[in-house]
Amino acid sequence: MKELLKKMHIWMDEYMHRFVTDDEEVMQGIRIKMEHTGYVTAIARELAQHLQLSEHDVQLAEIMGLFHDVGRFRQYSIYKTFNDAQSEDHADLGLKVLAEEMPYMADLSAEDAELVRYAIKYHNKKEIPADAAGKKLLFARLLRDADKLDIYRVLSPFLDPDKADQAPKFIRADASQLISPDFMVAFKEGQQADYHMLKTLGDRKLVRLLWVYDVNFAWTLQKMVERGYIQKVIDHLPEQEGVDVGVKRMWNYIEEKCAAADVI
Ligand SMILES: [Fe+2]
Repeated sequence: MKELLKKMHIWMDEYMHRFVTDDEEVMQGIRIKMEHTGYVTAIARELAQHLQLSEHDVQLAEIMGLFHDVGRFRQYSIYKTFNDAQSEDHADLGLKVLAEEMPYMADLSAEDAELVRYAIKYHNKKEIPADAAGKKLLFARLLRDADKLDIYRVLSPFLDPDKADQAPKFIRADASQLISPDFMVAFKEGQQADYHMLKTLGDRKLVRLLWVYDVNFAWTLQKMVERGYIQKVIDHLPEQEGVDVGVKRMWNYIEEKCAAADVI
């Protein structure tokens, strides 16, 4: 497996570099996804180790991190956007890329290959299917956490108003800071908001903050708190009726969740 992992890293590195171009605007997007891939790979490993998975399973988690966004590169080169709704689902696209272009899937056992495909497929969906169980569920939860933790890192600098202008187009938002009523209700009740209803920059920040309720492991939430990602989003919410209630509820939830040990 160690040898296989090495070959997969080399393949992914070469694959990502195929998308390097002179177009600086395109490169901003590609560079972000290259770095994100590296971080998520490392985080997935670290989380798997924290959960005391076997070395084999730690390596599987690493493979999932490595390939989870492989579809982003083809997506961006074809559609010039990372918006799934305006192009196609990047996780499903990633599975196509793996099937068509990555020669080493067949070197995994059938069971492991299925786990990798499953975790990648569901890393970006609204939720993991209710019938998921065992290792499928475990790895899907692990990869979703690793991905979210790093997305907070990626997006954090763009919260600063002076940096917001330099944000790549796909991150920049032009609309109001105010949070829409539906989103405020979700925040006050600690529910996920419907991403498709997103209207304002305030909504966008809130959607990201509401991920807190979708984090699976205390380990991940702890890191989000330690690194200041959550406080930073909260600091940049508008002063608006309902925000205090939502924030208080969230900190209570975080405290409770972080106090519980991660059991698998
Ligand atoms: Fe993704």
